[in-house]
Amino acid sequence: MISGKLANRALGPARAGILGWPVTHSRSPLIHDYWLKMHDLEGSYEKLPASPEDFQDVVMGLMEAGYAGANVTVPHKEAAYALADVVEPSASRLSAANLLVFKEGEIRAANTDSYGFLQSLHEGAEDTNIEKNWLSNPVALLGAGGASRAIIGALVDAGVPELRISNRTMEKIESLGFLCEGTQTKMTAVPWSDRTEMLDGCGLLVNTTALGMSGQPALDISLDKLPDFAAVVDIVYAPLETSLLKVAAQKGLRTVDGIGMLLHQAVPSFAAWFGVTPKVTPELRQLVINNLEEKS
Ligand code: ATR
Repeated sequence: MISGKLANRALGPARAGILGWPVTHSRSPLIHDYWLKMHDLEGSYEKLPASPEDFQDVVMGLMEAGYAGANVTVPHKEAAYALADVVEPSASRLSAANLLVFKEGEIRAANTDSYGFLQSLHEGAEDTNIEKNWLSNPVALLGAGGASRAIIGALVDAGVPELRISNRTMEKIESLGFLCEGTQTKMTAVPWSDRTEMLDGCGLLVNTTALGMSGQPALDISLDKLPDFAAVVDIVYAPLETSLLKVAAQKGLRTVDGIGMLLHQAVPSFAAWFGVTPKVTPELRQLVINNLEEKS
């Protein structure tokens, strides 16, 4: 197999970037630049602002300009999926893509968010038997937006028996029902007012809402019903230790912060464009944390 470095040289430095609207605050360039440097590759990764009206033209322009591909973030993940010529199962099952690879004149789409979530969960588990403790019991999920969609996909893959999902807008939970159809995972929609009650017996609680993020209202929930073996994940990473994670840690529960998902979802993208599978190192994690602290 041709190595990433050789592939890169043969085709000239590979170019990629992140498409979003807005894209100003994305940490993806920081992550990919770190790996490019670490692997001594000549490629580049840039912020690619694209409004919803311009999205398709911008993607076509990148392909014509010889880009290797792009990541896609809010609000374009569904449009990216719809635009692709070839779609991997990781994207088709979610009807959303965050990775585009341009190859032989085709747009290929994948979704690495579910992978990023599961990798982050495994990293946070350390010595814990997560299959036995966190994933063989019901899982409680707060939120039913874009991030929730990828996390439901990941939890279905992990074989979770029951997903209890609570969201301010109930209809949005119902619109995600297709993700569990034909799987071993039973989805239960829980009214927002019952979010504390639903934690009874759950092995894992995941917050995918914006609540608790800097500038957003606090997440109001009591963790008293969670069993001792449960873990709590917050995908919010600004602040890194949200008040949800603080309370969970005070109760002696295992916590997983939102940086891991951000870092791990980037791995398959880098591998697809630059030909090397990079590592999520403690140094990279610290680099991103420092950057978040500088900008907050
Ligand atoms: P993302 O792509 O990060 O998931 P999103 O699709 O905008 O972002 O979803 C944001 C989530 O946070 C939604 O579940 C949203 O609830 P609604 O579906 O009812 O909008 C939730 N959220 C945002 N602000 C909220 C608030 N003040 N109270 C409760 N939930 C809130």
